[in-house]
Amino acid sequence: MSDKALGQLEQALLDVTRVALSGDLEGVRLLGRRVVRRVPDDARHPQALKQALLDLLDRSPAPADSPLRSAPAIEAPDSSWVRQPSGVPAPVLSERLAHTIRLLIAEHTDPEPLARYGLMPSRAVLFTGPPGVGKTITADYVASELRLPLITVNLASLISSLMGRTGQNLQEVLNLAASQPCVVFFDEFDALAKSRSDSSDVGEVRRLVNVILQQLDRWPPGGLLIAATNHVQLLDLAVTRRFDTTVQFELPTEVERLQLLRASAPLANTPAWAAQSELLALVTDGWSHADLQNWVARSLRRAVLDGGGGEINVPGELLDGARDAARAYITGSVPHRTALAAFASKHAKWSNRRIAEWLGVSHPTISSDLRRAKSDN
Ligand SMILES: Nc1ncnc2c1ncn2[C@@H]1O[C@H](COP(=O)(O)OP(=O)(O)OP(=O)(O)O)[C@@H](O)[C@H]1O
Ligand SMILES: [Mg+2]
Repeated sequence: MSDKALGQLEQALLDVTRVALSGDLEGVRLLGRRVVRRVPDDARHPQALKQALLDLLDRSPAPADSPLRSAPAIEAPDSSWVRQPSGVPAPVLSERLAHTIRLLIAEHTDPEPLARYGLMPSRAVLFTGPPGVGKTITADYVASELRLPLITVNLASLISSLMGRTGQNLQEVLNLAASQPCVVFFDEFDALAKSRSDSSDVGEVRRLVNVILQQLDRWPPGGLLIAATNHVQLLDLAVTRRFDTTVQFELPTEVERLQLLRASAPLANTPAWAAQSELLALVTDGWSHADLQNWVARSLRRAVLDGGGGEINVPGELLDGARDAARAYITGSVPHRTALAAFASKHAKWSNRRIAEWLGVSHPTISSDLRRAKSDN
């Protein structure tokens, strides 16, 4: 489960654990004081929690010789953050998005046409969109196409509870970026904003973003900053405005889902798979690229294990894992239900009873669907 699904109290516990494990005792106090000031909405006994925290904070002054005090606060950026370009395959994107990405690459590989009009290539680009739709792999792809090293910075892990230290950590990353032409990828960019819910800190966030963006000017020519976020609404306008472009990533359409499914090795290029993937693309409306890929990989694993060395029923496993999607797909549509039933019978070799259970309809309904499908053919 991602941090994003957690409640405020759970999030606070995670924050404290993260900061405590980094050895930042003062940071732990600061987080404690923050919870006292603003008790999480989902605390069941807010007053008691507040009082207990206050007691703890009062009772335990920082020991001067605490071994934690001298521990490094957070991992420092080093060469392990830098990835050399390495022929990353093109992500599956909509025509519109693919075009935007092609332009982004083109303006950096050949800035001449822009320069003729006194224009510069864009230097800071914001990728937004739901999880698992290719923001990270596209950043990787862009760097790889530009043959530039990629420095990936996960802001959630860079942020220290102490704003000053976060600034220092950032500065180190920016120095690393300024030392070579590269693409710097700030992942989970909203972590900057999310971690600073206190209004007094909001100004600080803006200041930090300004620091990041101002530093772009001292980067070597060709450098590019890409930031990614699932929660563009957490970034205020003053922040998003600072980017040259915002690129909106979206859930795959049916065509893109089909493309993705068709390319799924090792099923790719078999005639059976070409026919099967069409219907699978239809029933997976609303799934992300990552959902789809994980689903295929999981189904393949299961099919091989369940097959015990014998025949493997990949369509069966796939359909099994898409039960909810299949039920949503057939709701209110007899042709959809008939098509799915016929698919399950033909490709997964399921019995009528199995299909009926899977779709949550009666056994005779499926039998008549299949009869109809047969007579239509
Ligand atoms: N557009 C795409 N084309 C091909 N594969 C994709 C695409 N999007 C996602 N994937 C697959 O899903 C995985 C996760 O994608 P990625 O990390 O790029 O998503 P993201 O948008 O950055 O998600 P998050 O917001 O959770 O960081 C990739 O490693 C890849 O296998
Ligand atoms: Mg990502």
